[in-house]
Amino acid sequence: MFAKKKVVATILSSLFAAGLSFSAIASTTLKISHNQDRNHPVHKSMQYMADEVKELTNGELKIRIYPNGQLGTQRESMELLQNGALDMAKSNASELESFEPAYGAFNVPYIFHDRDHYYRVMSSEVGEKILASSHDKGFIGLTYYDGGARSFYAGKAINSPADLEGMKIRVQPSPTAVNMIKLMGGSATPLSYGELYTALQQGVVDGAENNPMALTTSRHGEVAKFFSQDEHTMIPDVLVISTKVWDELPIEQQKALKKAAKDSMIYHKKIWTEMTKTSIEKAKTSMGVSFVKVKKQPFIDAVKPMHDQALNNPDISEYVQGIDALAND
Ligand code: GCU
Repeated sequence: MFAKKKVVATILSSLFAAGLSFSAIASTTLKISHNQDRNHPVHKSMQYMADEVKELTNGELKIRIYPNGQLGTQRESMELLQNGALDMAKSNASELESFEPAYGAFNVPYIFHDRDHYYRVMSSEVGEKILASSHDKGFIGLTYYDGGARSFYAGKAINSPADLEGMKIRVQPSPTAVNMIKLMGGSATPLSYGELYTALQQGVVDGAENNPMALTTSRHGEVAKFFSQDEHTMIPDVLVISTKVWDELPIEQQKALKKAAKDSMIYHKKIWTEMTKTSIEKAKTSMGVSFVKVKKQPFIDAVKPMHDQALNNPDISEYVQGIDALAND
């Protein structure tokens, strides 16, 4: 018995001498919270990342995903994460603006000229700087996931900003989103995503704005039959990790996690594109949603001051300039 104990003690002390700690030899499981369904591309992309991380670390680092807001809304998840009660979360640039102003640069309407510009920014140095900017606020970003272009949907077509007059439009809890609706002439109602279906159904709000997939994966097409394609913003989802958890991970696991997160962004691009097409078809044929082509210029003109304000805002001007510099036209 005594001899056995001695052998174990010797093995442990040589492991410590080799620089290994308990956390390096035991497996760690990180919990992620997000507010979408299991069939949504972000869930699949995170699963892709979890599989890759497990493989790269020989099972030492595992990830468990909690979908459908089971662990709280996006805002609540960020608070849990900052308080040390959650390891990782998926939020998006709009909601993160209240936690780290740098994300506000993504939320300026019509800042992206097209999808390639958006991808160049997400994969660029500016994109990385924004992800790293919140280190001292208790979290850091690992990667972005394409969130498509956001447009208005409601019980009627919105062909121009004038059609928004008198309408209550649900927005995410983001100062930039509130300002955008105000400038376009509507009345902004910030609500969490989980409350939106019922709010549309009961007329608490008259409309909302999101990518076309919200019509199917969150069934908003059941309660809003006109999707007016003004494409005012392209707001990425963002995968974040608690700074404390990140700093405690061994460097090899940090590298594996960052690599897997980046690879899952590339995987996400493919499935996002495919699922957007399927969602639009499904919304049209089985849900009876009309997709309305609109002239974008009046919407662009209404929010033009926001770009100038962003360039003059010391919190984000550097990032806005960086984004503008990556436009090709
Ligand atoms: C997108 C995004 C969600 C977000 C939602 C919203 O669907 O993926 O993270 O919650 O927009 O409008 O709240």
